[in-house]
Amino acid sequence: MQASLLEELNPVPNPYPIKSDVEYPEVWRLCEQARDLAWNPLSIDFSDLVDADLPAEVREAGSEWWSLRAWMEHGAIPYGAERLREAIFDHQPFEIKQHIINFIAEELRHHETSFLVARGLGAYQNEPRADYFKSVIPRFHDEKDEKAMSFFAGLAVNTLFEQLSGELLKARYENARYKSIRTACQLILRDEARHIHFGRIIMRRFFEELSPHDKDLIGKKFAKKLRGSLLNGVYAVVNLPEHERARAGHNRSLAAQHGLGATHPDEEIFIIKRSLDQIREEIAPYGVEIPEIPEVDRVAVVH
Ligand SMILES: [Fe+2]
Ligand SMILES: [Fe+2]
Repeated sequence: MQASLLEELNPVPNPYPIKSDVEYPEVWRLCEQARDLAWNPLSIDFSDLVDADLPAEVREAGSEWWSLRAWMEHGAIPYGAERLREAIFDHQPFEIKQHIINFIAEELRHHETSFLVARGLGAYQNEPRADYFKSVIPRFHDEKDEKAMSFFAGLAVNTLFEQLSGELLKARYENARYKSIRTACQLILRDEARHIHFGRIIMRRFFEELSPHDKDLIGKKFAKKLRGSLLNGVYAVVNLPEHERARAGHNRSLAAQHGLGATHPDEEIFIIKRSLDQIREEIAPYGVEIPEIPEVDRVAVVH
């Protein structure tokens, strides 16, 4: 091989020292809970979905909805892989690496559970049918934005989104009329509660030390991700182009009407607004502010 080509390869960073002492006992406690609360998506019985008396159009809408959930959960895997790489080569203590590994395994089982629900309803779609939507999911996460923040600030920002999606999932759990879907939502929510707890620990520990520049950046990155990708059909359909918004919105409300663990598009925006206000309140004491997000903030709160 030519010497110039070799120079372009990334050297493998030195992993030493590999630390084993616990520096964050609260994080270690979460890791132990994760071991005790492990569950298997295959142990959920999805036959209630297979046997359900549902019109073809509703099965199609439900499969699309749960396929979308499966793609979203899968989106957490590359994000987690990048964080694990950083944790290893930043010489983070054992419990931080363990938490990230748990996070990856848990997001992967949320992905698996979601495609099993989609299969139970009809068929799992391994990619979006709409071209527009195909390009949205890969933009779900931008490593450039992530790298602009410190390691722990980035982890905390991600958990703010987990808090938001947890609120939406709670509403979807309440909507679910099938035992398998209720169980799936419940088990996923139990994992998410741990992910959110991790974010709170990290926030308490690191947010006070952040520079004013980093605090400003966190609020802006949060707003950018919410507006640029999550409101584009992921958390809600509000920012989709009109045609796709009507199609996706119709299917989503059809799945919600039949209790398939979905939310009506109008309901989603109120949940996001409520949750966003709550997040703002929680991060305000640290001097972190999320700028106005018009498509959410200008919604009249009537619920
Ligand atoms: Fe998840
Ligand atoms: Fe999560």
